Amino acid sequence: MAHEQTPQSWLRDNALNILDSVVDAILAIDDQGIIQYVNAATERLFLYSSADLVGQPLTLLMPEPYRSQHQQFVDNFLNTRSAKIIGIGRELTAITRDGMEFPIYLAVNEIKTGDRSYFAGIVRDLTEQKQNQEALLEQRERLAHVGRLSTMGEMTASIAHEINQPLTAISAYSQACMKLLEKDSSDVTRVLDGLRKLNEQSLRAGAVIERIQRFVRHEGSEKKLIDLNELMRDLVHLAAADARLHSVDLHFELENDLPDVYCDPVQIQQVALNLIRNAIDAMLEVNCAYGADVILRTLLCDEGVEVAVVDLGTGVTEDNEALVFSPFHTTKAEGMGMGLSICRSIVRHHGGDLHFENNAGRGEAAHGCTFYFRLPIEELPEDFDESVPGGAVE
Ligand SMILES: Nc1ncnc2c1ncn2[C@@H]1O[C@H](COP(=O)(O)OP(=O)(O)OP(=O)(O)O)[C@@H](O)[C@H]1O
Ligand SMILES: [Mg+2]
Repeated sequence: MAHEQTPQSWLRDNALNILDSVVDAILAIDDQGIIQYVNAATERLFLYSSADLVGQPLTLLMPEPYRSQHQQFVDNFLNTRSAKIIGIGRELTAITRDGMEFPIYLAVNEIKTGDRSYFAGIVRDLTEQKQNQEALLEQRERLAHVGRLSTMGEMTASIAHEINQPLTAISAYSQACMKLLEKDSSDVTRVLDGLRKLNEQSLRAGAVIERIQRFVRHEGSEKKLIDLNELMRDLVHLAAADARLHSVDLHFELENDLPDVYCDPVQIQQVALNLIRNAIDAMLEVNCAYGADVILRTLLCDEGVEVAVVDLGTGVTEDNEALVFSPFHTTKAEGMGMGLSICRSIVRHHGGDLHFENNAGRGEAAHGCTFYFRLPIEELPEDFDESVPGGAVE
């Protein structure tokens, strides 16, 4: 019958083999910091043989400043029984025989035999883990960079989008003026009218650029107390011509006695213009089959003042619903897909939000849809000065 081993005696016979098979470096030192034992992983990790290490101070495996501080830590622990490492473990730097420093996690425990204290340490090489962490950080940094680039891309697209409208108008008015002047019997008042509109549009393009410059400089938008009805009526010159060109009629339904709203007039006009432009596009897509009217409506609501653009176009299809506000999303051959994303960010900067609903759900005619935004009325800065014309704070 085979000789039966107890677990304890088996462990005694195999303890060294077990320690040598462990992946982590294990070593033991006495209370003077002298190495008593190292396992095979310690030899591999630090490039010393066991014979090189046993009897040597542990500090051999530490670079400065740990080397100079080590014995002080051990003495301190033995005197006060308090230490920042015993029984806890921490990240440190170790050094190999050929002077290579590398990150380790060191867990230390005290072993008491008789009246002497020994310390057993388990050293885990963190090189790979740190490299992975660094790679991850680098990847995050790269992604952030790509993010910044795409923000710049969106910004460039926004500029192109917003400047396009006045530029198109400038080109149309200048062509009209040239045609008038080419005629012998040119009508000076009509030419002058065209030039005045041309001038208005170039000022508008300039105003848009100025807003963008302010945005880049992280300055706020130029907000004033504004009569929204008046602001919307002003759009007639800008939007009605566009509508007429496409045989669409723009109607205004403006609620009387609206309270003034604190907003940037150029930006809010941009939003309304973009919504009208989209409304016209959606109606052209169905050849105005459901009617040719676009309504620009203002009304008082719980949250403040609402501006709505109601059209009789395609409506927003279900698969398009989640995407309409995403930058660069467009269903149009010539579209840039920036209009609604710009509008939403402008409205949000004003403390409101931009929404849409297909008309059937909004109590309108069964066709087309309504894009609407609400601006809060109480959004006045504390230092608002009513005595300044327009209420400008700056
Ligand atoms: N009134 C509307 N009716 C139906 N669909 C609309 C309406 N307004 C916007 N959409 C849909 O939302 C998409 C995104 O609109 P957005 O204004 O952001 O871009 P776009 O009009 O396609 O291009 P652009 O950048 O030139 O404005 C449109 O392509 C269209 O599919
Ligand atoms: Mg658009």
